Amino acid sequence: MRFSATALLAAAASLHAVNAATADQWRSRSIYQLLTDRFAPPSDTAPARTNPVPQTCDPQAGTWCGGTWLSIIDKLDYLQGMGIDAIWISPVHQNIDVHTPYNYAYHGYWVNDVTQLNARFGSEQDLETLISELHKRDMYIMVDIAINSIPTLNQNDAVSADSLSTDGSMWTDPAYFHPQCWIDFSNQTSCEVCWFGDANLPLMDVNTEHPHVISTLNSWITDFVTKYKIDGLRLDAGKHIPGEFWSGFTKAAGVFTTGEVFDGNWSFTADYQNKGFMDSVLGFPMNGAIVKAFGDQPKKNNVSDFGVAVSLALSTYKDPRVIGNFLENHDMARFRNITADPVLAYNAMVAQFLIEGIPVTYYGQEQDLSDGNHDPYNRQALWPSNYENGTTYQRIARLNLVRKNLITTGIQFDGKAYMDDDSKAIAVTPTDIAFRKGPIVFTLNNRGSPEEAGATFGIQATGWPSQTAIIDLLSCHQFITGSGGSLSISYSQPGYGGLPYVFATAADAKTLGVCGRPTPVGVLAPNATNAALPSSPMSVGLMGAAALLTASLF
Ligand SMILES: *[C@@H]1O[C@H](CO)[C@@H](O)[C@H](O)[C@H]1NC(C)=O
Ligand SMILES: *[C@@H]1O[C@H](CO)[C@@H](O)[C@H](O)[C@H]1NC(C)=O
Ligand SMILES: *[C@@H]1O[C@H](CO)[C@@H](O)[C@H](O)[C@H]1NC(C)=O
Ligand SMILES: *[C@@H]1O[C@H](CO)[C@@H](O)[C@H](O)[C@H]1NC(C)=O
Ligand SMILES: *[C@@H]1O[C@H](CO)[C@@H](O)[C@H](O)[C@H]1NC(C)=O
Ligand SMILES: *[C@@H]1O[C@H](CO)[C@@H](O)[C@H](O)[C@H]1NC(C)=O
Repeated sequence: MRFSATALLAAAASLHAVNAATADQWRSRSIYQLLTDRFAPPSDTAPARTNPVPQTCDPQAGTWCGGTWLSIIDKLDYLQGMGIDAIWISPVHQNIDVHTPYNYAYHGYWVNDVTQLNARFGSEQDLETLISELHKRDMYIMVDIAINSIPTLNQNDAVSADSLSTDGSMWTDPAYFHPQCWIDFSNQTSCEVCWFGDANLPLMDVNTEHPHVISTLNSWITDFVTKYKIDGLRLDAGKHIPGEFWSGFTKAAGVFTTGEVFDGNWSFTADYQNKGFMDSVLGFPMNGAIVKAFGDQPKKNNVSDFGVAVSLALSTYKDPRVIGNFLENHDMARFRNITADPVLAYNAMVAQFLIEGIPVTYYGQEQDLSDGNHDPYNRQALWPSNYENGTTYQRIARLNLVRKNLITTGIQFDGKAYMDDDSKAIAVTPTDIAFRKGPIVFTLNNRGSPEEAGATFGIQATGWPSQTAIIDLLSCHQFITGSGGSLSISYSQPGYGGLPYVFATAADAKTLGVCGRPTPVGVLAPNATNAALPSSPMSVGLMGAAALLTASLF
């Protein structure tokens, strides 16, 4: 039997489609960002590739702590247990493997040759095994791609790349680099053509306008994505490479791409998506808005500004639903380093998971890791946490479940499903905000854990009729709307200070299947105190005083 060329092509195309996930396939996902070296320790099934493996992983020492691609597999149940269905792993390609004035390349970002894998993390076979294990579980793999610069220890390179000692680099001609200058971060041209690093460790800026560099990288990424069945790419140093380069590169990649455009300017970051340079960016401006509204101390800033940020995201990005929403990452302070109160963190997480975008959880967020106001301290090993099923882990599991089921059931309010509707602020004060998004109304605040006598937040019109049974999808408690569909949330009961809520009608909650049989706990009508709260409210301890630290944006 003979196949027609067309049939073969169609078969090849559909085969490719299985592995090459698009922006549309990613928008419903929930991403977990991890550093391979720090996420999971070597084990019987995942032999160490770095010897010796240190007894304790000291982030300040800046050396390899032993995690590998195979050791990630050991913890996939842990990730799926909190509803994660995609991982973004640190760069997989060869790094300089020497001691530098900034210690070792355990993080993987000092790539000097993308044609080789990083032997510290395993073999080609190991990476393939990880990816096939992920795909068996219907999880996606996103690989971090670092092509902007090449580290060198040749001091002369700090002056120019002309004396190039290739240090194992694939770029063997000085013309493949921009002439030496150190980046002036206030000047975008400088960001694109000048060098990261300093005289101690220059990172030579690859000349991504050079035709040979362009064609080499474009065909390389096509081959890499195909060979390893990669589902998505995170583009390191997104704003340090001209957009025209990215347009060709992301097309050649043929999978979902999201870039690190480390900038707080909404329209500047949105341009990378709107002009077609890449499918998505990580939402640095939204990160700033969430940290400002819910970070640090209770009531420090004005929550209504967060509502402004949510509408800016909707009006600025062409496709706000694929922007990455994160609270922390490997370059920034851990959210809990700058925010002691766990209920503030809970509110920030509800924002991270339920507004438009793809939630991106940085490893350790689920374990409330608080060490690290900047790197290297925010890159600690996860294993001392024992991968516990604690409160924050369970909250992430619930938020993922709620979001997933809102998406898959497609339930609607007023003809709008959760994914199609834009978050709309329906009530706001300097400390509280309520959004309607499709079938849910969710409320956030920055009041913090302590209960406040007499404190309430009123929503005049939820959109539901009066006397509607509604359920908080986070606690599974049931409430009844007041006249005109109003709600008044009370923060005066011990254990109920500052909690976020995600309401759906009792009928929709049943369809969503995220609550068992909810217990009616009373009426939250305007000015009514919630007298019938259950006797064992969610326990929300108040931690010690917060360290007042700011994120270091390099
Ligand atoms: C975590 O604990 C909760 C509460 O006991 C339980 O319902 C859930 O299944 C646990 N999750 C995992 C992954 O073990
Ligand atoms: C911006 O940086 C570029 C590249 O270094 C330089 O040529 C240009 O003069 C700089 N512009 C300003 C305004 O400093
Ligand atoms: C933000 O970015 C836009 C687009 O690049 C630019 O026109 C504008 O001047 C920037 N705003 C600030 C405050 O830098
Ligand atoms: C909070 O911010 C909003 C604008 O987002 C402003 O209208 C309001 O006056 C601010 N309130 C306080 C108390 O700062
Ligand atoms: C924040 O991180 C720094 C190290 O980067 C650490 O010294 C400090 O104790 C941390 N603060 C908290 C509250 O964990
Ligand atoms: C609460 O009661 C006061 C005084 O009776 C009234 O002015 C206010 O409008 C009420 N709040 C709501 C949200 O109905």
